[in-house]
Amino acid sequence: MFNLILFGPPGAGKGTQSAKLIDKYQLVHISTGDLFRAHIQQETELGKKVKALLASGELVSDAITIAMLEEEIGNHPAARGFIFDGFPRTVAQAEALDKFLEGRGDKIGTVIALDVDEDELRKRIAERHKVSNRPDDAAEKLVKRIDEYFGKTIHVLPFYEGQGKLRHVNGIGEIDAIFSELCQVIDEHLK
Ligand code: AP5
Ligand code: MG
Repeated sequence: MFNLILFGPPGAGKGTQSAKLIDKYQLVHISTGDLFRAHIQQETELGKKVKALLASGELVSDAITIAMLEEEIGNHPAARGFIFDGFPRTVAQAEALDKFLEGRGDKIGTVIALDVDEDELRKRIAERHKVSNRPDDAAEKLVKRIDEYFGKTIHVLPFYEGQGKLRHVNGIGEIDAIFSELCQVIDEHLK
């Protein structure tokens, strides 16, 4: 098993790069944001609970998010590994993930942080807002998403740094060039 966390602020390119990485490494992509949006679209009970939170850019509670994540991992018994995108977003989520994986005789291999500055994030999301149907891409909602990132999520980095698993990749530039850098980091780990 190889499990990768692709970490980064809103608009860092986690989804874009995950789509390429799953092809190359035959991993299962788990994006908690995508899962929440699917629940909202299907109007499930969970979807009804989290709809307003996603629209506002606030984080969903750890309890709800962890339960959904664990269920999704369980849905892929034949997986060769996972890319976690947008999870964990709090230290409590990181601890829960470690514990859950450990219970399966598994662990996180590498955590790659995609580094992108705020100006670039704002530009990317503003551009996508012209064509996306994500209510949280509106400029005033993006402010909240960035606040949540710097207030809560960034504290996950020292957690993995302490485990010696954290790597950084510059997330600015051509998508294919960033992908190559990610592959180098992963290949180094898999060697
Ligand atoms: P989530 O769906 O995870 O959203 P996010 O992290 O805020 O950010 P994005 O998905 O918009 O960005 P991304 O990094 O995937 O970048 P992308 O590849 O799309 O979460 C949404 C919400 O769900 C949260 O706010 C919260 O409410 C809830 N949630 C989710 N997980 C949770 C958790 N664990 N706990 C609690 N709540 C949770 O790229 C962005 C744009 O940039 C695209 O248009 C793309 O084409 C473009 N782009 C990508 N790469 C480049 C590049 N190199 N150069 C130029 N443009 C680029
Ligand atoms: Mg995404």
